[in-house]
Amino acid sequence: MNVLILGSGGREHAFAWKIAQSKRLENLYIAPGNAGTAHCGTNVDIAVTDFEGIKNLVWEKGIDMVLVGPEDPLVKGIHDYFLQDEVLKDIPVIGPKKDGAILEGSKDFSKQFMLKHGVPTARYQSFTRDNIAEGKKFLETLNPPYVLKADGLAAGKGVLILDDINEAQQELENMILSAKFGNAGNTVVIEEFLKGIELSVFVLTDGISYKLLPAAKDYKRIGEGDTGLNTGGMGAISPVPFADEAFLRKVEEKVVKPTIAGLKKENIDYRGFIFVGLMNCGGEPYVIEYNCRMGDPETEVVIPRIQSDLLDLLEGVSTQSLESRSYEVTGDVASTVVMVSGGYPEDYVKNKEVHNLDKTTDCHVFHSGTKNAGEKVLTNGGRVFAITAFGKTIEDAVSRSLRNAAVIDYDQKYYRRDIGKDLMNLVVQS
Ligand code: AMP
Ligand code: GLY
Repeated sequence: MNVLILGSGGREHAFAWKIAQSKRLENLYIAPGNAGTAHCGTNVDIAVTDFEGIKNLVWEKGIDMVLVGPEDPLVKGIHDYFLQDEVLKDIPVIGPKKDGAILEGSKDFSKQFMLKHGVPTARYQSFTRDNIAEGKKFLETLNPPYVLKADGLAAGKGVLILDDINEAQQELENMILSAKFGNAGNTVVIEEFLKGIELSVFVLTDGISYKLLPAAKDYKRIGEGDTGLNTGGMGAISPVPFADEAFLRKVEEKVVKPTIAGLKKENIDYRGFIFVGLMNCGGEPYVIEYNCRMGDPETEVVIPRIQSDLLDLLEGVSTQSLESRSYEVTGDVASTVVMVSGGYPEDYVKNKEVHNLDKTTDCHVFHSGTKNAGEKVLTNGGRVFAITAFGKTIEDAVSRSLRNAAVIDYDQKYYRRDIGKDLMNLVVQS
């Protein structure tokens, strides 16, 4: 098979690394890719939302399957674009059509979906320009902290969590009237704050059956001890000790099954990944959000734990025969530590030469934001590498990730040294 992966981050490098191991693979292309994906296949400099450019590439290279990494092309309808095109309509796209991607593209839609299909989630109401005054009153019925979410995609920045009621009421106005998050904030979801521990659960579905992929915990803040600004993710651990078998069974029964059944009921033919952001509140799962793709950096621990052929599973998705495909996962712990550029998550430096990539041992170095410049590898993003390692325990895996993060070098490198620390002696009710 000839496969095209869309995207340029650590998630796509992990996909490319895994698919490159498949016996079924002939040629692998990544658009646009990075310096790491160039070792797994051929990078092609086409943007993920350049549908026409992608069409030409698919035609030219005889692509048999397209795996979409990020949400943007899915929410913009790349799958629908393929289905509506005479040349492309029979080429499978892994990732939902617009009607499924809206689970991520609209928080208001996803909250309504959860309510309708009995998926546990925080109490909420949505507000627009027409009922801001009611929104302010609704805030007064809640206890702090207050959670305000822009309905649409806002590059991961559209959620505000505020302690002060006046500030929350002001921000509601800023989002709706002053377009703080552009059109994404025309509708704002206000919801109850959920107290608990967060984790990410991943599902691969062909619209009929599904496989529950390994769960992971992501570390979102830039600073150690989960302090400072939010980032795309600074590290991840899988499996998650507080998501034990009993808890995951609850997730499957109360969240995953009703979600898949709900999609079917609404005639949404969903073929791809569902990333469920969950809160474990005293042993009960509550959904914070759905994403229509895999997480980054969670993919860098989830995919390496899968021992089966990913391409075979993806073919199962495209032909709706996922149920019969072999699916095995290692019980070992995977950790990933994300190395970032100076300044990230605000304005960051780029084009710094990377040294010592050949000196790493016992780990997978997934590139998140790099590019080749002749013989050199240069930094080319806020997140630069995700260093994944395995161990029998979290301590063991993380110490390997950290040892290698210390070896790789570039000017103004930074990474958190406390990934997984909170999980090392944690006791949580389930
Ligand atoms: P989202 O973009 O929906 O993932 O929200 C970003 C982050 O805000 C989540 O990862 C949570 O850490 C936090 N968050 C969102 N909704 C809630 C909630 N209802 N209660 C507590 N924390 C939340
Ligand atoms: N790591 C969180 C995300 O991919 O959205």
